[in-house]
Amino acid sequence: MTDKGSIRIVNTVKEMQSLTNSMRNEGRAISFVPTMGALHEGHLSLMRAAKEKGDFVVVSIFVNPTQFGPNEDFEKYTRDLEGDLKKIEEIGIGAVFFPDVNEIYPDGHETYVEVEKLQKPLCGEFRPGHFKGVATVVLKLFNIVKPDIAVFGEKDYQQLQIIKKMARDLHLEIEIVGMPIIREEDGLALSSRNAYLSLEERKRALALSKSLGEIKRSFNEGNKDSSQLVELGIKILKESQIEDIDYLEIRDGKTLETKELAKPGDVVAVAARLENTRLIDNTKL
Ligand code: PAF
Repeated sequence: MTDKGSIRIVNTVKEMQSLTNSMRNEGRAISFVPTMGALHEGHLSLMRAAKEKGDFVVVSIFVNPTQFGPNEDFEKYTRDLEGDLKKIEEIGIGAVFFPDVNEIYPDGHETYVEVEKLQKPLCGEFRPGHFKGVATVVLKLFNIVKPDIAVFGEKDYQQLQIIKKMARDLHLEIEIVGMPIIREEDGLALSSRNAYLSLEERKRALALSKSLGEIKRSFNEGNKDSSQLVELGIKILKESQIEDIDYLEIRDGKTLETKELAKPGDVVAVAARLENTRLIDNTKL
């Protein structure tokens, strides 16, 4: 365990478990924000919410290899502990858990968690194995930190539903809290991957939030036909030369089942690639 400024950095599972065990014995409510680092205002909003909801906040920074496919950006993913710590020092974090890959996946590790149905559509179709990696690491982190409350962003909408379902199915005594997407002034959803965009791609990327906004506008004006609404969104993406669209779909907000007729509470979710950068976004109807 080391102290960087006012933040305690914990590297091992044993130390993390004993720190939160002793906090719990003192009667403190532990709130937890799992991250992969490359922190931005979206992550900070999760930490502020965690601070309000609990008395001891743990943030994990761990780029989890099992949620990346073979041709994805695991190697390239931004790793900048010093920069991340600077961004969060104002918030008043109790501890940052910053383990090594071997600490989380020691030799011979072979146990995984899958949320069978929810992991299949949307990102699951285009990133096979991704949610198996997410659910596994999140359950591991939960077992290490043993939080009372865990806070996740709604930008990874499917991930949030999967974690909520895992918590219900496995009887975890953890309150899972989802927090709204934080956007730039022009509408772009904050993401660690925005850093990969060139200036020109950054401009075109605005079409994602614009297409969601137009779908919502049309829905509010009375158009409930999912395929028409989706068509409208795709047209907007294509106008910005976004052709590599993994999906733009309207699904039930909880079960993620497809809908012919959209209703309030459904989610409109999009994933598209600009050159090598894959971006996701969503909105609720
Ligand atoms: O959302 C993320 O940053 C990651 O998927 C998570 C939840 C930290 C698991 O690695």
